[in-house]
Amino acid sequence: MVVEINSGRLWGSLMQMAEIGKTPGGGVCRLALSDEDRAGRERFIGWCEQAGLVVRIDELGNIFGRRSGTMAEAAPVLTGSHLDTQPLGGRFDGVYGVMAGLEVVRSLNDAKIETQRPIDVVVWCNEEGSRFPAGCMGSSVFAGRRDRDAMLNLRDRDGASVQGELKRIGYDGLEKCGGAPVAALFEAHIEQGPVLEREGKTIGVVTGAQGMRCYRVFVSGVEGHAGTLPMDQRFDAFQGAARMAVALDDLAHHFKHSAVITIGVVDVGPGSRSTIPGSTTFSIDCRCPDAAGLDQLDAEIRTICETIARARQLQLDIETISTIPPIKFDAGCIGAVRDAADRRGVSSRDMSSGAGHDACHLSVIAPVGMIFIPCKDGVSHNESEYASPEDVAAGCQILLDVVSDYADRP
Ligand code: HGY
Ligand code: MN
Ligand code: MN
Repeated sequence: MVVEINSGRLWGSLMQMAEIGKTPGGGVCRLALSDEDRAGRERFIGWCEQAGLVVRIDELGNIFGRRSGTMAEAAPVLTGSHLDTQPLGGRFDGVYGVMAGLEVVRSLNDAKIETQRPIDVVVWCNEEGSRFPAGCMGSSVFAGRRDRDAMLNLRDRDGASVQGELKRIGYDGLEKCGGAPVAALFEAHIEQGPVLEREGKTIGVVTGAQGMRCYRVFVSGVEGHAGTLPMDQRFDAFQGAARMAVALDDLAHHFKHSAVITIGVVDVGPGSRSTIPGSTTFSIDCRCPDAAGLDQLDAEIRTICETIARARQLQLDIETISTIPPIKFDAGCIGAVRDAADRRGVSSRDMSSGAGHDACHLSVIAPVGMIFIPCKDGVSHNESEYASPEDVAAGCQILLDVVSDYADRP
């Protein structure tokens, strides 16, 4: 039986969720485990309960809304994404995958379709890694790729811990994070790049994702008086860090494997106008489609920073925060997404993801597929992020077709 989604209900849910943490610029700010994140979680759970789903929370704050299957004990098919956002985030990144997953179960309910396998609609905790510096935190612990306690002890810039914030907002769940079998996972997401829109395609059949490495660089020099110390006697940590940043930007522009390097967080200490900075800490987000390229970038990043630190007699420490290799998704899931788009007569093209996603981590423990839809001008992590109601509906329809297909496979 062909089941159709309710596109109006889906769009309505997206726009209602966008009201939570709404920013003056028309975007959304729901930092992980903030009050806004809690409000978004509560709204999602309310909708799950209205849809007859049984809701569970695990010890990392991941939320699972379960639609039972006729084989109640069978490994579930998972769908979903994240509700946390960037500080000036958009109304679609992550939340689209959660709302599309919810619409899948709502539509199956309307059609009174029972699947053999249970279906879990999932909200993964702290995908963005903005407030707490570990992207895909909840999904990577679930997949056994990160240590649970290390993640619970992560702290934000004010010193609040993940564990403390989970408890404060009431999401320090009892269920163990991970270890349970997963039959398959499908995640719908906006592309966050320009390819689909430029080519006029509606669906991205995601084949995998590029690799990424994140670092924290500590540069230390000597504080001094801004007025009295001559320029040639200074050990200015910020000036050293600034030259490293420019050199790393040049490296990414000229690197043969199409790398991208972003420095998004810079802290200058002690942070006073009339004191020469004695310390500067900055983040590096480095991505590349192939593993050899990532290794080469790692070496070049270290050489650049060490050379500049030595020349300016500064101390340097480079901490690797995370290493995620390039990911290839399951060929069967990729084919299922492509075939579903063909059956629906929707244009599609295979593509790899430039962004990281929770699905990437799950791909090490289960067959995984992703469905991309276009976003306007390829813009994301920006308040103006936009996807059209038509594309939102088309992606959700494909999600319903593949999730219900897999939920009836032995
Ligand atoms: O950074 C990423 O790739 C994801 O959008 N958080
Ligand atoms: Mn996302
Ligand atoms: Mn994001």
